[in-house]
Amino acid sequence: MSRPIIAIDGPAGAGKSTVARAVADRLGYLYIDTGAMYRVIALNVIREGIPLSDTAKISTLAKRTEIEFANIEGVQHVFSDDEDVTDAIRTPEATRLSSPVSAIQGVRKRLVELQRKMGEQGGVVMEGRDIGTVVFPNAEVKVFLTASVTERARRRCEQLREMGMEADVDKIASEIRERDLRDSSREHAPLKLAAGATLLETDNMSAEQVVDAIVGIHDEKIPAN
Ligand code: DC
Repeated sequence: MSRPIIAIDGPAGAGKSTVARAVADRLGYLYIDTGAMYRVIALNVIREGIPLSDTAKISTLAKRTEIEFANIEGVQHVFSDDEDVTDAIRTPEATRLSSPVSAIQGVRKRLVELQRKMGEQGGVVMEGRDIGTVVFPNAEVKVFLTASVTERARRRCEQLREMGMEADVDKIASEIRERDLRDSSREHAPLKLAAGATLLETDNMSAEQVVDAIVGIHDEKIPAN
């Protein structure tokens, strides 16, 4: 019990990445962004020009893609077969495609396998959509982060602008609605509140308050040795 798993799930733009990274820093745990892994597959689908309808080919692509994370000067980088794709997976096109790609069962099977391997030693903060329900249903700490669509679109816009990309808040809001619907209504591992998860509505919470709340839940469940 001394190296627990913290599962953080929730919809797009709820602040999972910022919060999960900070919780991991605070506790000295490893941070794993599983959305980045689905984005890597989406990026490769675009690059190879595979049609979305060819789920067999996309599943094969997922099976042969090696995905790794590395911390470089305090920043988490994502590698696809040794190529640093940290920025490439954040383009609007890769973002849009990541949702339908993540609904393909063969893709999920492969990525869940990798995620379980990455987390098997414990001491990880893993964020995504199905961490508390599917990947680690026995995680010691489970949190479901959410916020209104307006607030999530505002946060996403800010993020994109910080990266020097153009961002239209209304367009992002409608894309978030569309992704929410897809991610929550898909057949395999839909986004939903896991049994035993704490629901945190973050519209009126600062990132720091959310981090404090999660570390608090952790400390309550995992008493210091
Ligand atoms: O969190 P994100 O926006 O980077 O996620 C990209 C896509 O991947 C999103 O549409 C949902 C999907 N995803 C998923 O299905 N399961 C996860 N554990 C993480 C992300």
